[in-house]
Amino acid sequence: MKAITIPQPGDPSALVLAEVPDPQPGPGEVRVRVAAAGVNRADVMQRMGFYPPPAGAPEYPGLEVSGTVDQVGDGVEEWRVGDEVCALLSGGGYAELVCVPAGQLLPVPTGVPLADAAALPEVVSTVWSNVFMTANLLPGQTFLVHGGSSGIGTMAIQLAREVGARVAVTAGSAAKLEVCRELGAEILVNYREQDFVEELRTATAGAGADVILDNMGAKYLARNVDALAPNGRLVVIGLQGGVKAELDLGLLMRKRAAVIATSLRSRPADEKATIVAAVREHVWPLVSAGRVRPVIHGRYPLAQAGDAHRELEASGHVGKILLTVS
Ligand SMILES: NC(=O)c1ccc[n+]([C@@H]2O[C@H](COP(=O)([O-])OP(=O)(O)OC[C@H]3O[C@@H](n4cnc5c(N)ncnc54)[C@H](OP(=O)(O)O)[C@@H]3O)[C@@H](O)[C@H]2O)c1
Repeated sequence: MKAITIPQPGDPSALVLAEVPDPQPGPGEVRVRVAAAGVNRADVMQRMGFYPPPAGAPEYPGLEVSGTVDQVGDGVEEWRVGDEVCALLSGGGYAELVCVPAGQLLPVPTGVPLADAAALPEVVSTVWSNVFMTANLLPGQTFLVHGGSSGIGTMAIQLAREVGARVAVTAGSAAKLEVCRELGAEILVNYREQDFVEELRTATAGAGADVILDNMGAKYLARNVDALAPNGRLVVIGLQGGVKAELDLGLLMRKRAAVIATSLRSRPADEKATIVAAVREHVWPLVSAGRVRPVIHGRYPLAQAGDAHRELEASGHVGKILLTVS
């Protein structure tokens, strides 16, 4: 098969299309003929050499795909050759074929084209596991997501809106904030011009956010804790602003608040399967009903994965960038 390889980590030109051996499904695995693959910021980190695949994962980048089941391994009952699926991966999505544990597959939701379904598994699993399974966002609570126009952000806004939370976002331009508003965000903060702590306090009569989904890490830690409501939960999923910062435990204590940091990719297969099952139960009906949709910015052929990374890094996009594989 053809896959995107990284012979030498570096800039987007490090992504090289090459002929490589076809993967073979092991027991409990399914092989998918890939139609499309999602591009995620984690793939950029892997390309640069900072985020190696976990043990046992395929070495090629790519954390989510859509496609057609092409082979099933021993012991797989639920899936058949020819099923149209999308999948949460630990790696290997930038390829014509990928093997994945059966528990990480989802059917393509009704009404979503196969080529678009690759935009869903990683973002939906990340948002659902962190915002709902871990931070327990409830109806009527205030939810802040940083980078509201990102792949993660566009999904987080829609899901929080669907459970009846009040959604606040940060983004870097008025045009991006407008998209967030259309998706359901009510409190819009331009992080280049405004202080999100102040804006959130004003909009919530001083209460702050019950749950924050953060992509910035160190750079926003103190301000995020400041912006939390009593009993608030800050979930850090990105480190775009660095890894080390000072944490005011006194303030955290007074608020009885929690700071949590998670990585989906490093979770064991059984935890991923639990998340995927919850996504299927709670989110798939919303997608199939057309209430929640993948927001897709653009597509590149697999061979132009480097251009897709350039576009992601330039941060002009809103929502997801996909690779078209077949
Ligand atoms: N831990 C996990 O399991 C997990 C899983 C998936 C994703 N993630 C993380 O989630 C984040 C989003 O991923 P993605 O693939 O959706 O990436 P993406 O589409 O490239 O989004 C990156 C976002 O960062 C925003 N940003 C940049 N500087 C900012 C600032 N100072 N304040 C607020 N926002 C800022 C950008 O906003 P503008 O474009 O408006 O400038 C953009 O929306 C990434 O950090 C990624 O690593 C983590």
